[in-house]
Amino acid sequence: MLALLPLIPLFLTPLATATPTASHNTSPKTCKEYTIPLTITAGTYIWGLPNLTTNYDATAFTNNLSRWDANETFHPISGFENATLNVEISGSFCAPTSGEASTVLIATHGVGFDRTYWDPSIQPEKYSFVDYAIAKGYSVFYYDRLGVAGSSEISGYQTQVSLQVAILSQLITLTRSGHFTPSPPAKVILLGHSFGSVVSNALLATNPALVDGAILTGIGYHVPDTAVSFEAWQVRVAGLVSPGRWRQLDGGWVTWVDIWANVNTFFKAPFYDQKVVEYAEARKQPFSLMEIITLAITDLHSPNFTGPVLVMSGEFDLIFCTGNCKPILEPYAKPYFPASKDLEVYVQPGSGHGINLSGS
Ligand SMILES: *[C@@H]1O[C@H](CO)[C@@H](O)[C@H](O)[C@H]1NC(C)=O
Ligand SMILES: *[C@@H]1O[C@H](CO)[C@@H](O)[C@H](O)[C@H]1NC(C)=O
Ligand SMILES: *[C@@H]1O[C@H](CO)[C@@H](O)[C@H](O)[C@H]1NC(C)=O
Ligand SMILES: *[C@@H]1O[C@H](CO)[C@@H](O)[C@H](O)[C@H]1NC(C)=O
Ligand SMILES: *[C@@H]1O[C@H](CO)[C@@H](O)[C@H](O)[C@H]1NC(C)=O
Ligand SMILES: *[C@@H]1O[C@H](CO)[C@@H](O)[C@H](O)[C@H]1NC(C)=O
Repeated sequence: MLALLPLIPLFLTPLATATPTASHNTSPKTCKEYTIPLTITAGTYIWGLPNLTTNYDATAFTNNLSRWDANETFHPISGFENATLNVEISGSFCAPTSGEASTVLIATHGVGFDRTYWDPSIQPEKYSFVDYAIAKGYSVFYYDRLGVAGSSEISGYQTQVSLQVAILSQLITLTRSGHFTPSPPAKVILLGHSFGSVVSNALLATNPALVDGAILTGIGYHVPDTAVSFEAWQVRVAGLVSPGRWRQLDGGWVTWVDIWANVNTFFKAPFYDQKVVEYAEARKQPFSLMEIITLAITDLHSPNFTGPVLVMSGEFDLIFCTGNCKPILEPYAKPYFPASKDLEVYVQPGSGHGINLSGS
């Protein structure tokens, strides 16, 4: 885990007592915004249900998906096809102003967020992963996933894991070619949160030679009760909830019902600051039903990935551990990375799923 070692102390810092260190303010970063046109091709599953147009439909979907025997009674997919799309991805590349970093982290956010998950404007000295990584001498490329914020719009019935993996793979190739840096970086490390960790992990599974290491946060490999988080979200059709902001989105895009559903699924009392919850809720992004459907059927086994892997989730993560990661994170994660030269599995005490926004 040599390449990742300098990053670990940050994860080990007890968040409640973490004090803003001088390093945050004395490590200036130089950032540049990018809009990157890509042509992607991937095998995709085809939505097999009527479109959702009302919140009664969204509730019916939740009912269907959450049955214990949904794997035999619910068939939201009707087929498979190869899709080719032209998309634009919006991202930021930040490097230490003091000089070129030899390692670039490529950060993929989860559902309900956009790329600012990694660099929130509320108390950045406490919550900005980007500032921390810069202070440690890394560069970070963090981007809005397809369908979110500044990146291209797409139907919520279409966007799914395979398309996101195809995008990530091209972003890695661009990074490796020196697109963002004066010269090609020596190492490229993937960093994910939640759905972004699933996408990053799926890339390790399908294209293991492309990256040098991975940090997968807010993930798990054994969800004792898969229905809990979807039920806890109580999803609503995003375009109906916030017509001003999301009217253009089709019914495949949903959002959780309110701020308490956000707390229920992303935080854990008393390990959060209410102001941070309000900040996250005010900036929440919709997510797609096909992302959730395909997440559940993506094979994350990465038998050929030999680089170091850090798997890290909050102790009380609801979404990936049904509220208690400690006993289940490591034993279930291990078999997924049999060839990793250094697998570290770490449970962050006093945190829910939204691990980088926790802390009181
Ligand atoms: C369902 O939604 C898709 C994607 O937005 C759209 O192309 C299609 O026309 C819709 N189907 C119906 C029957 O409204
Ligand atoms: C719920 O499942 C039934 C079949 O069991 C299906 O006919 C219906 O379209 C589904 N509705 C939604 C919104 O998922
Ligand atoms: C559905 O899940 C149950 C319990 O995990 C399993 O026994 C069954 O074989 C699964 N059915 C299908 C069609 O995958
Ligand atoms: C998708 O492309 C792959 C590889 O080119 C091919 O083997 C497969 O048959 C195609 N699938 C469909 C449904 O067209
Ligand atoms: C968020 O990430 C930054 C950088 O890793 C770290 O300094 C900070 O402690 C994290 N915040 C929380 C609350 O995890
Ligand atoms: C892993 O490596 C084995 C042996 O070289 C190969 O047969 C297999 O296709 C590889 N799997 C993946 C997902 O790359």
